[in-house]
Amino acid sequence: MTSDDSQKTPNHALSAMQCPVSLDDVDLFGPGSQEHWYEAYEILHAEAPVHRLPGEGFAPGSDAFVLSKYSDIARVVKDPERFRTLLTVAIDAIRPAIEEANQAGTKPELPPAMNAMIVSMATLRPTQELYRAHRQELTDPWVGPGATRHTAMITRVADELLDRWIERGQVEFISEFARPLPQIVLATILGFPLEDIPQLAEWGTFQVMPFVYGKGPRNKLSREQMASQAEALEAFGHYVEDQVAEKRRRPQDDMISFLTKVTYQALGRKLSDVEIIGVVYAMVLGGLETTQYALAEQAQLVCEDANLYQELRTDPSRVRPFIEETMRVRAPTQGLSTRLTTRDEVFQGVHVPEGSLLHIRFAAGNVDPEEYACPHEIQFDRKRVGGHLSFSQGPRTCPGAGLSRVEQTIAWSRLTERIERFRYAPGNKFLHQPGIMLGTLELLLDFDAAPVNGQNRPGE
Ligand code: HEM
Repeated sequence: MTSDDSQKTPNHALSAMQCPVSLDDVDLFGPGSQEHWYEAYEILHAEAPVHRLPGEGFAPGSDAFVLSKYSDIARVVKDPERFRTLLTVAIDAIRPAIEEANQAGTKPELPPAMNAMIVSMATLRPTQELYRAHRQELTDPWVGPGATRHTAMITRVADELLDRWIERGQVEFISEFARPLPQIVLATILGFPLEDIPQLAEWGTFQVMPFVYGKGPRNKLSREQMASQAEALEAFGHYVEDQVAEKRRRPQDDMISFLTKVTYQALGRKLSDVEIIGVVYAMVLGGLETTQYALAEQAQLVCEDANLYQELRTDPSRVRPFIEETMRVRAPTQGLSTRLTTRDEVFQGVHVPEGSLLHIRFAAGNVDPEEYACPHEIQFDRKRVGGHLSFSQGPRTCPGAGLSRVEQTIAWSRLTERIERFRYAPGNKFLHQPGIMLGTLELLLDFDAAPVNGQNRPGE
């Protein structure tokens, strides 16, 4: 058990918001709601599995609906024609300007970075077919199924991070392991100089700003926030532009160099600078922080159940189901408001009009008792281990899932090899960042290092 039983689960943390006890108390987006999300999901499952948020839709006067049932969420994400993503709507809006600029041989009038991503989506993957080709040809070899090519590098990074604190017996797990691991890995894959990581991380925080500081189900930023975001992202766009120019001059074995050289078979041509910036932007947006949240939750789960960790130590083949089950019970991306209905729909008997915004709550679907018996239990032998919604499903499933799975597998393989047991250290508050990601702010752990060559390490 833990050094302090009152610290047992993050949901018991003090928070600005009281634990919801009835549907009236449920607000998934209010300040402090993060501390009680899982209690809210139980109420939603029992009383409002399709929960209407009046006036919160995309178009003025329309509504948003929170989907919390596994079957509804799976149905939505698997059918991108019927449930359109907001990004495809944005792409359709800017496509005429891009096509016009292309015909005139000029650049479309759009600021860099954020819009580079949308521009690259509009030109490289506007249709389902091109979306698939984009993934297969451009990202899969680096962050999808091809991510196993980074095994040696990720192992080295994990070991180097561990070397920094293994003799101390105590670690702040997030800043000293869970955060730097994916940051260093992604910077290495893209080919950014490692000394630029602090700057990249700062830009990364601006990229994810709507998902952290955005208000309500639409993650709305204030005017000032949008202005500071635009400024930071412009600087990021220039930085990537310089990197692309440098890679075109002196290509290396990294993803940006690859993108400068590759012929995109689906369109039979090379990529432009703005398209490369767009692809890179999406990688940083999706990949810089998400794996951190998974690792941080996993560390808490092994502190809360010492047997779990010992099972991983005695049988390393359990690391993979451990990762899948822990991502199921603590989804890093708890929910996204990214789909619009294109016709009237009925979910769980609830009428959802055409043009409604759907907030798909992956985390709630993952603990839907109709889909999973004893949904909060981690069971390595579940029938469809890995069938969770944390990376979404269907054609738009997370393109970086391969990389994240490799990172998590290596992280826990190295941790279990080098550390005998973890415990919570005193002083944890288990509070979470705002927004829709499950991000614990700080995690102090005590641990016993494993003996090296039969010897205890110094300090033990
Ligand atoms: C634990 C780690 C991660 C989680 C939980 C996660 C989760 C998700 C989810 C739920 C989506 C939305 C899919 C949809 O709309 O149906 C998504 C999209 C995306 N993810 Fe991840 N992700 C993770 C790691 C990564 C990594 C490591 C990368 C890249 C290196 C990445 C890149 C992306 C990108 C680019 C998209 C947008 C895809 C599109 O344009 O449609 N993700 N991710």
